[in-house]
Amino acid sequence: MSNTNSNRIRAVITGIAGYVPDYILTNEELSRMVDTTDEWIMSRVGIRERHILKESGKGVSCMAVKAVERLFAKTGTKPEEVDLLVWCGVTGDMPFPATANIISDKLGVKNAFSFDINAGCSSFLFSLVTMAQFIETGRCRKIVLIGAEKLSMYVDYTDRSTCPLFGDGAAAVLIEPTTDNLGLMDSITRTDGSGWKHLFLQAGGSALPASMETVFRRQHYIHQEGQAVFKAAVSKMGDTVLELMEKNNLSPDDISWLVPHQANLRIINATGNRIGLSKEKVMINIEKYGNTSSATVPLCLWDFESQLKKGDNIILTTFGAGFTWGTIYLKWAYDGVRDLSQGLTGGLKIN
Ligand code: UT7
Repeated sequence: MSNTNSNRIRAVITGIAGYVPDYILTNEELSRMVDTTDEWIMSRVGIRERHILKESGKGVSCMAVKAVERLFAKTGTKPEEVDLLVWCGVTGDMPFPATANIISDKLGVKNAFSFDINAGCSSFLFSLVTMAQFIETGRCRKIVLIGAEKLSMYVDYTDRSTCPLFGDGAAAVLIEPTTDNLGLMDSITRTDGSGWKHLFLQAGGSALPASMETVFRRQHYIHQEGQAVFKAAVSKMGDTVLELMEKNNLSPDDISWLVPHQANLRIINATGNRIGLSKEKVMINIEKYGNTSSATVPLCLWDFESQLKKGDNIILTTFGAGFTWGTIYLKWAYDGVRDLSQGLTGGLKIN
């Protein structure tokens, strides 16, 4: 397919930026907290370290704001130009108001509406599909979508089966319309609600409000049946990637990059192998961030931005609590890093 102009409006990512907190929690430090080893974590999961937001009184919005400030600088966007701002994830600052409202306030985004989306670790993927609707209908022209998590607040650092897995971080994308043959081309999104019982956080919601008892019973921490989630993630991500490839006549050679949710290196490798993709085409950064839920996919795109080219066929795929999973096929819009503050346009035509 060529990047020729058509009348169809598509949603395209025109900039990306991320932020991770300074503190690095290593496997070595974890092995002093619980009965684990760097060898076990690296061989079973593939995580060497994760970033943790340590400062008290700082919620996920603090990281989100830093990522969006960088995004604004890179894309030359002014807060008042944004017409929709969405934060997606599972670790909001408060039950309400929406974290997106708090982020908008801190950034001076005043001409927009803003709200949150929660679809577990598929939050970013589901949100990108949802944001594309606002662009394709002409309702919005500049959308900021943020995947950010402070998962450390939900991690039980006495439970070795979950505490090595999760980290904190944030990444944001700018989404705009284009009539070029670029951007979000197709997607498959799925939910199986019966899977909720394998991955959840029990207390603190309306079903089981916080009490002395819920704290005593450690019900404010992530509960995961790892093997059940592992099996479903491997099969469901691979299924939807293959389905979407077939629907769009894409062979492994046509794909420039696979961007999988970063929960376990073995799941990532199994997905890449299942679709017959060589290792160099799979974005992997789990080793340095761990599982940052809604932030994994945009953090990958941010880390690999310098290697991306206009017209690259990119496949995003995720699996998460819910169960939720899905795959997006998109065509990347620009070459290398786009950072207007450094005079770099990435070859993207500026309006
Ligand atoms: O992001 C949302 C989606 N989440 C995922 O996709 C996560 C999917 N699940 C997984 O990635 C893996 O199931 C885990 C990484 C969570 C666990 O790996 P596993 O290979 O499934 O291990 P397991 O739970 O079957 O445990 C195997 C053994 C057990 O010991 P025994 O019973 O065989 O003696 C565990 O107690 O490993 C033990 N173990 C550990 N040993 C050292 C569990 N955690 C640790 C640890 N260090 N940190």
